[in-house]
Amino acid sequence: MRLIFLGPPGVGKGTQAQRLSAKFRIPKVSTGDILREAVQKKTPLGLEAQSFMDSGKLVPDDVVIGIIRERLKESDCKDGFILDGFPRTAPQAQALTAMLGQNQSGIDRVLNFELSDDELIRRLSGRRSCPNCQAVYHVEFNPAKKPDQCDGCGGKLIQRSDDQPETIRRRLEVYQSQTLPLIRFYEDQGVLSRIDGSGNPEVVYRRVTDAVGK
Ligand code: AP5
Repeated sequence: MRLIFLGPPGVGKGTQAQRLSAKFRIPKVSTGDILREAVQKKTPLGLEAQSFMDSGKLVPDDVVIGIIRERLKESDCKDGFILDGFPRTAPQAQALTAMLGQNQSGIDRVLNFELSDDELIRRLSGRRSCPNCQAVYHVEFNPAKKPDQCDGCGGKLIQRSDDQPETIRRRLEVYQSQTLPLIRFYEDQGVLSRIDGSGNPEVVYRRVTDAVGK
């Protein structure tokens, strides 16, 4: 099962990918998570990516394409994967098609999550994340048991630096101009399913499993 999760920032791609990854026992491959880890560890990749991420811009295509090319070669991706947040531009989508073509294994389904801007902003503004184990919470919709402390590992929860109002606005603009055209790209290939991202995570998850036919 090779899946792509498309959709605007904050729509719930990561939340749903996490769940489906556990069900199918296939990895969730998130370029955002990989980049944030690199930023946290101050690796050369992280130092290059940080200013793009903090200002809500996309990291250059050649950088993220290189990340995915290497990641998909790892053995845990052999039986499938969920791409969360990649591709996000036409060159990334074309590079992915070329990469998978070499292995004679295409994408099974692309799920495009949809939600109103007001709701996206509400989800992003209230998000809290654990930098240790990547768990994601929401102050209103999915609060941690103790304020600011991860239920799973006890780590101190943080607000992502790109979840500030001005950066959220910029990320939504970037999504409209650079990522939205990919919906058509995958629709034309007959692999796109539209997922209503509204409602609680359980309701959305049922739509997801219906779309992938499991
Ligand atoms: P990335 O980390 O990919 O961010 P994103 O696409 O903007 O998506 P988010 O992680 O913000 O949202 P999500 O849809 O996963 O929502 P979540 O499940 O967390 O990218 C960050 C940056 O990295 C980019 O801006 C760019 O700079 C760079 N980057 C990454 N990939 C790149 C690429 N391919 N090319 C170039 N640059 C790249 O949910 C959000 C909140 O809502 C949470 O609090 C959650 O608890 C809550 N929630 C989830 N579902 C529900 C629900 N059903 N009801 C109520 N609350 C919900």
